[in-house]
Amino acid sequence: MRAWTFGRTSEAAGLRTKQAFGTAFRLGLHAASLAPLALLLYDDWAGRLSFNPIEDATRRTGQTALALLILALAVTPLVLVSGRRSLMTVARPLGLYAMLYASIHLFIFAVLDYGVRLDLLREAVLEKPYALMGLAAFVLLLATAATSLRGWPPWLGRRWWRWSQRAVLAAAPLVLLHSLWAVKVITSTHVAYTALVAFLLVFRVPSLRRRLERRLSEPLPREGAE
Ligand code: HEM
Repeated sequence: MRAWTFGRTSEAAGLRTKQAFGTAFRLGLHAASLAPLALLLYDDWAGRLSFNPIEDATRRTGQTALALLILALAVTPLVLVSGRRSLMTVARPLGLYAMLYASIHLFIFAVLDYGVRLDLLREAVLEKPYALMGLAAFVLLLATAATSLRGWPPWLGRRWWRWSQRAVLAAAPLVLLHSLWAVKVITSTHVAYTALVAFLLVFRVPSLRRRLERRLSEPLPREGAE
């Protein structure tokens, strides 16, 4: 057998291993993102939530949404520092899962807690600054998520696309303020999250981003609030 045949066989085997690893990684990412929701449903079913299950569920979905949002924000800095452009593929699912938990969080608040009473909801949003901040963050996340879906019509324009993709950068500090204000206690998690978000946003400073980008084989997409 010729040498090139061995070369091709090992190349194909390497490719298959890489593909299998990619599939396992993607499955792991989906499973890990859905695990907090499964655990919440299980705890509810097993009666393991606190004496105020709605507050429990609101807090847990809010915390998961924030954690996933921070992970999504960490992808671009990780790519810039490590040079591994392939990591970019996890940004979209992480962002969309953050949006899923934020939507469930809002659903619990508006439907389970306030019973879709529009008068009460309007009062809550107008009178409680933390709720208004949460709503602003939700709208920004919604804009980013909408333009991240494949079916987004290109005729809506590049400028709107860029703006909506960057909206997530403003949403993260708003969510931090919202959660701090809602819970009214500064915990070590809040401090750590705030420091982490500030650190991750530094990588969006154009001069630093450009300098790090020079080390990549090709630049990251300009719209990038990945
Ligand atoms: C209209 C939009 C929103 C409303 C009305 C809302 C409502 C609330 C409420 C009522 C709480 C306090 C729960 C409690 O202690 O009883 C809370 C906490 C929280 N929310 Fe929201 N929220 C909104 C949007 C968001 C969004 C978009 C996110 C994240 C992406 C988020 C993340 C959080 C976090 C992290 C907490 C603190 C949980 C904790 O540390 O215990 N919220 N929210």
